[in-house]
Amino acid sequence: MRTAMAPMKTALIVLAHWVLQNAVCREVTLPNGPLFRVAGFPLSLPCRVSEYEGPRTQEFEWFLYRDDSGGRQIGVVSTRDKGFPYVPFQARVRNGEVRVERDSGDRVRLMIQRLRTEDQGKYECYTPSTDSTYQGNYSNSVTVKVIPDTLRVSFTRSLTGQPVPEGADLTLTCSASIQSEQLTHLSITFGRRAGSEVPESGAGGEVSNVREIIAIDKLLGVVPGQFYKKRYDNGEITLEKRNGEGGQGVYVMKMKAVQPDDTGSYFCETSQWILDPDRSWQKIASRTMDIGNLTVQQLAETMSVTSAPRGEVTLQVGSPLILTCEVLGLPSDVNSGLLVQWMKRGSVSSDEAGTGGVEVEVARMSPDGLVSWGDDLGRASGGSLEKVAEGKYSLKLFSARPSDSGVYRCAVSVYAGRTSPGLSTPATLTQRSEGVTVNLRTKDVLVSAVAQLPRGPLLKRGNTITLICNATVTTTGPAQAQVHWLRWPLPEPVLKREPDPAPADPPVIQMPTRVATLMYNGVSNIYVNGSEISVDRLSAISYRLRVHVAASEDQGMYACHAEAWAQDPHGGWYNMGAKAESNAVTVYLYARAADLLLIPLVVGVSSALFVGIFIIATVTCCFMKRLRRQRAQK
Ligand SMILES: *[C@@H]1O[C@H](CO)[C@@H](O)[C@H](O)[C@H]1NC(C)=O
Ligand SMILES: *[C@@H]1O[C@H](CO)[C@@H](O)[C@H](O)[C@H]1NC(C)=O
Ligand SMILES: *[C@@H]1O[C@H](CO)[C@@H](O)[C@H](O)[C@H]1NC(C)=O
Ligand SMILES: *[C@@H]1O[C@H](CO)[C@@H](O)[C@H](O)[C@H]1NC(C)=O
Repeated sequence: MRTAMAPMKTALIVLAHWVLQNAVCREVTLPNGPLFRVAGFPLSLPCRVSEYEGPRTQEFEWFLYRDDSGGRQIGVVSTRDKGFPYVPFQARVRNGEVRVERDSGDRVRLMIQRLRTEDQGKYECYTPSTDSTYQGNYSNSVTVKVIPDTLRVSFTRSLTGQPVPEGADLTLTCSASIQSEQLTHLSITFGRRAGSEVPESGAGGEVSNVREIIAIDKLLGVVPGQFYKKRYDNGEITLEKRNGEGGQGVYVMKMKAVQPDDTGSYFCETSQWILDPDRSWQKIASRTMDIGNLTVQQLAETMSVTSAPRGEVTLQVGSPLILTCEVLGLPSDVNSGLLVQWMKRGSVSSDEAGTGGVEVEVARMSPDGLVSWGDDLGRASGGSLEKVAEGKYSLKLFSARPSDSGVYRCAVSVYAGRTSPGLSTPATLTQRSEGVTVNLRTKDVLVSAVAQLPRGPLLKRGNTITLICNATVTTTGPAQAQVHWLRWPLPEPVLKREPDPAPADPPVIQMPTRVATLMYNGVSNIYVNGSEISVDRLSAISYRLRVHVAASEDQGMYACHAEAWAQDPHGGWYNMGAKAESNAVTVYLYARAADLLLIPLVVGVSSALFVGIFIIATVTCCFMKRLRRQRAQK
């Protein structure tokens, strides 16, 4: 028992000591000094009390020991006693310029709104006891050095109040300097206040309509503002420090391609920072300069796109089509990339030009001057898209074709302030001209086609089928026929032996098989595989189709179709849109087996005829002889 009690007693004594020494051992904490603060700017001194007994809300009293006062105490301000301040501080406390702000029950801060040189000295934060025993430290103090305000800021006027065109570049310059014996840093922030929104709301100073654009921060790094990060990353916003006269820093902010959103009032704010003994950076002076107001003139308000000629144009096929697109109202002092496109809706293939057709791109010129052509690739060689003057673009089709008719429109996309926009960069504005209707008058043209099977012996399998197509194109200027041969199946033999009980199927319209084509340029195309087929031209108007070693599947109704193709003055060929269909020619092949059966019949018929003629001749001959003899006897 005894041996167990002794260590327990010792433990209790140690515990009591610990409670006395640690549990109730008041401590008052202030930042480590000395603190350098600038005259005319605020001083904020936090003070905290811990390890106290009594109420959670503690009282605080602040004293100042001026450097020259020989240890004399000056009451500054207290949380509990309005009569506490000594004369030097009475007025300043009354008007709130010197005050204690409470952060929590045991944390306060001494605030001096505008520090004066005579405020330099040792500040003591004292907390009246609420403890059962007087233990620990009831006050603490820190030295505050008041240094002169040497922060100088100026700006170069560049915002005149005149509207700046969308896409223009903006350069703002602020200069700043400090002269300090202490090591201090200078930060600078360029910002914008949006115009129409709520004005400053007093207390916080942080107003929602203030946007930081770009800054050099207290650690001397360049930092873009939250809403400007993308433009900064794209290199469109830069901030540069240059060395000016007399140790001044000249800060140049450049913003490329201003947008309507950039309208507002611009400022630069410079701040002086110092590294306190507790290794935290403190802003000790700050100054804001209003640089001026920026109004951005929207491109949409000035820009227009027109095309010439206007309204409606009627051209002869083969003559040149020239359309000019003009962009007006682009600010002359802004270099912008332009994408120029000529679009066309409707063509000769859609029945009514200009209505309902799909809009297609004819040609485009990209901001870097590259020209590309739409789906009608053939056009690239027969046309051009050129910049003929600043803001003027000409589309030329050297020889218009019937398919070039339609409604043309020029679309211009402006990349304001960006001469070589990236692929993903959206255009600032796209505007289209009014449509110009282009009608193409085709030449009068007459096409005819006649098909014919030349006379000859009956066609049998294995023979060569020859079909002649006479096709003529009558028009002015050079023209050619393009001839297609088509084949329909032979009609089924009509057998009326037994009436069909089932209702007859509706007659099926048989589609022809395209057999071969001889194109306007002499190129032949054969479309059927099985047979040996050739096409050629026999004379100016005669076109020949031959099916060699004809088989039964080559039987059918043959016809030719002729299309008129004309040559424009530049040598290009185009379809004039006129065509003719010939009569159909029936090609039937007699089988060899049938021929073999036919021969005896033919022999029979001819021998019978021969016998007949012989008999008649004989009879006639004998009768005449007898008649002559009878006459002679007389
Ligand atoms: C409290 O005061 C005593 C003597 O006044 C001193 O030795 C001690 O370091 C002080 N403690 C703190 C935390 O300031
Ligand atoms: C800028 O605009 C505000 C109103 O938005 C106006 O109060 C201020 O005077 C203007 N500043 C200048 C320099 O024109
Ligand atoms: C086709 O033209 C040729 C002359 O080139 C002529 O002999 C022939 O009779 C014409 N055929 C028809 C069906 O017109
Ligand atoms: C002709 O032959 C090609 C392959 O050589 C084949 O794809 C096509 O279907 C054939 N056409 C006909 C009509 O038999």
